[in-house]
Amino acid sequence: MCGIVGYLGNEEKKEILLDGLQELEYRGYDSAGIAVIEGDKLNQFKAIGKLENLREKTKNYHTEGFGISIGHTRWATHGKPTELNAHPHLGAYSYVVHNGIIENYQELKVELQNDGVNFLSQTDTETIVHLFEKNHKTNTNVFSAFEETIQRLDGAYATLLITEADPDTIYFAKNGSPMLIGFNGDDVYFASSDTPIIGKATEVYYLEDGEYGYAKQGEVKLFDANGKKSFTKQALTTDKVSAQKDGYRFFMEKEIYEQSRVMTDTMIGRVLDESIAFDEIDTALFDSIKAIKICACGTSYHSALTSAYLFERIAKVRCDIEIASEFRYKEPLLTKDTLFITISQSGETADTLEALKMAKRAGLKSLSICNVDNSSIVRESDAAILTRAGIEKGVASTKAFATQTMVLWMLTLYMGQERNTISKEVLKTEIDAMLHAPKALIVTDELHAKLHRLSKRYLHGHGFFFIGRDIFFPLALEGALKLKEISYLHAEGYPAGEMKHGPIALADSELFTIALMPKTMHYDKIKSNVEELSARDATILAISPEPFELADDFVQTQYSSHPMVEFFEMMVVTQLLALEISVRLGNDVDMPRNLAKSVTVE
Ligand code: AGP
Repeated sequence: MCGIVGYLGNEEKKEILLDGLQELEYRGYDSAGIAVIEGDKLNQFKAIGKLENLREKTKNYHTEGFGISIGHTRWATHGKPTELNAHPHLGAYSYVVHNGIIENYQELKVELQNDGVNFLSQTDTETIVHLFEKNHKTNTNVFSAFEETIQRLDGAYATLLITEADPDTIYFAKNGSPMLIGFNGDDVYFASSDTPIIGKATEVYYLEDGEYGYAKQGEVKLFDANGKKSFTKQALTTDKVSAQKDGYRFFMEKEIYEQSRVMTDTMIGRVLDESIAFDEIDTALFDSIKAIKICACGTSYHSALTSAYLFERIAKVRCDIEIASEFRYKEPLLTKDTLFITISQSGETADTLEALKMAKRAGLKSLSICNVDNSSIVRESDAAILTRAGIEKGVASTKAFATQTMVLWMLTLYMGQERNTISKEVLKTEIDAMLHAPKALIVTDELHAKLHRLSKRYLHGHGFFFIGRDIFFPLALEGALKLKEISYLHAEGYPAGEMKHGPIALADSELFTIALMPKTMHYDKIKSNVEELSARDATILAISPEPFELADDFVQTQYSSHPMVEFFEMMVVTQLLALEISVRLGNDVDMPRNLAKSVTVE
């Protein structure tokens, strides 16, 4: 997720911006930049990679006296991590930084290109500064030209604009992406979150969606659709670490709550009213492809397993799944009519990377689904689709899994439409369900409180079985992995229909069975599997829209028309269960013992 900082005042601006961006590193980034206007002097610096590269570039640059300034760390969503794509983006005499996704940027870009504007970057953000300067040509009042600009943007944005046309003012707007205004005397600060301005500003105002305005020394004017509005500042926290967690106890908890938003981000520009679009894919990738092989590790392997059901059921293409560490040494038979897909949050998992190189040596076309642009796996692949989940700090993966699964679902529909294996009606039904998925990921206070209460009963026992059928079997595997990773209690994911082939011998009151019982997928069969376990005194936690009288504990989910919506809702329940059990056991939720966030060794 990108990070924004801004400062207006007499202090040295470069250090305020760079230190502020440093505080936003936890959000993840692949490039950074700053821009400063002091009177008639306008300076801009950008660098890819870590902030040290930007510090190196600016080491001989110092500001003095009054000025306005903006800075940005970029997490690539549109366009590769390059200096040209890094923010701030420059018009003829203005700079802009932006966090979010402008949904109608292609339309605006065409309009501006038809006016003769020459775009330097591949980003959606660059449309903002050129649109502003277009409006300013006919509307010489800078603020109303800015206002006109904001009114034409669709989508999510937190944006700052500075211009030589008004060198003592910072223009701001917020909709869907976070931004706050900090105050200390006459100086004004802007940031994506508290941490960059802790120790600098003393008071803060958290902008609301639809608010915009301008800041001058000792003066901030705020507006929304109803016109000018007043606002109340509040004291700014002094605790940086909790600020990075935005008030959550753990990064993992924050990331579970972020799933709904990042799922929406992942779908923007890709899930259209009646079709799926991937700008980053050339359909030639699928030419002569008759099968798909997906290779991954851990949680990424579970999203892959889920997608295998969808590729065969929807896209009618054969799909098999490999664990990368096994694939590397099994002397696999590979044919060039197979598309080799790798899935990785980090893009640096050694086994997955080596498996990809094996497939490439065998002449297969490759596609990676990854959360980190420019990572080793992305660079090694013929094509890549980013999951746009933002940085995932919790070692136990949550939002990456959710967005991987969504991208794979989109990809099955995309392949189905490209290969004409699904009707327009089926495609529309799937898209309608897809658009509902972010709502299924919303964590309600009631649900979280319920899981908190339930967790006290699951702190011992001789183990957990997570059971499910069809796509809920990979979800059972994932739920078991989440629990193992952060509670250190033993858990297995198992196909519900397999329990009677041995594991049911373990059934007794100390065996905890977490049963995923969707109404849209083989409900009667899963119900009878769970009844068999209950009859043998296993302790059952049922997760279902349908009350199940034999459950010892029951978490009620929403009735839905599509199994994938039930999948995402039940995923959140298993994530919260693991989190709350781990908290009660006093474990380090974000950094569980023995684990690393990215396994870059065999
Ligand atoms: C998931 O919670 C684990 N942290 C782990 O299984 C992880 O999914 C696996 O190491 C693969 O990582 P990757 O997605 O970055 O390739």
